[in-house]
Amino acid sequence: MNSISLSSPAKLNLFLEVVNKRPDGYHNLITLFERIDLCDDITLSNTLDGAIQVFCDHADVPTDSKNLVYKAAQMLRDDFALSNGVNIRIKKRIPVAAGLGGGSGNAATVLLGLNRLWKLQLSLKELLSYGQAIGSDVPFFLQDCSWAVGTQRGDKIKRLTIGTQLWHILIVPSIKMYSRDVFEALNLKLTKKVDDVNILTRSLKKNDLFVIGSLLRNDLESAILKLVPSLHSYKEMLQKCGLKCISFSGSGPAIFGLVESQAQAEELKIILQNQNSQVFVVKTY
Ligand code: C5P
Repeated sequence: MNSISLSSPAKLNLFLEVVNKRPDGYHNLITLFERIDLCDDITLSNTLDGAIQVFCDHADVPTDSKNLVYKAAQMLRDDFALSNGVNIRIKKRIPVAAGLGGGSGNAATVLLGLNRLWKLQLSLKELLSYGQAIGSDVPFFLQDCSWAVGTQRGDKIKRLTIGTQLWHILIVPSIKMYSRDVFEALNLKLTKKVDDVNILTRSLKKNDLFVIGSLLRNDLESAILKLVPSLHSYKEMLQKCGLKCISFSGSGPAIFGLVESQAQAEELKIILQNQNSQVFVVKTY
């Protein structure tokens, strides 16, 4: 096998509670991840010259060692003292720096792909420790599951067995937001401990849209809106369309609404299309 092609999905956070700030500067979170069917394509081609080369059709994606896929390949190549290299081709569909985990998912896909291409026989546990070293969202994407709860940095993953498939309308304003800036802008308030993520999990299992919608939460919202107040207008746009269950994903600016059907999402997409954002109809994947 000399090359391998894989799909690299995005995620939404249906729930993101910031528990506290840690001594290492990160924040402890409780988050509920949903994998969605908005995907990049990644092709890995083995080379014999030891070089790692990244090619991407999107101008905003770095092709040097700043790209998490580069880091992933470099870690594996160096730890296993391989003379192999790899060409990594990314067809980008997931908006960059949007709160959808595109870069983290790409890194996870490269770890999984190179484990096969380079016949490394790494266990999931070993892959997870590489993922954690690359970024907080990477471990979720290493798990073959649609739903999971992340704790600690968001990197300790508990897979959920949920068969429910949700439809969403997803707006991605043309602005990049970086997690570091959003977490820095956060004014951490101590909130009362409630068991919302478990209630949400149970209502997802029952496909109870009303309860699911009432429990959507993102503690980063105030920091996102403090940094970019104009993002309020996207929330209002979705509210004006009659949606009640709306949330930012991750550190934004991607914002999504829970809808009842694909048909409703497609109708909204036509209404919401504008020049300053991308609009997607997405579902659980
Ligand atoms: O782990 P990752 O590199 O994706 O995190 C990017 C930045 O987001 C971190 O440097 C940190 O500032 C912030 N972050 C955080 N707490 C988390 C995850 C990320 O403070 N649980």
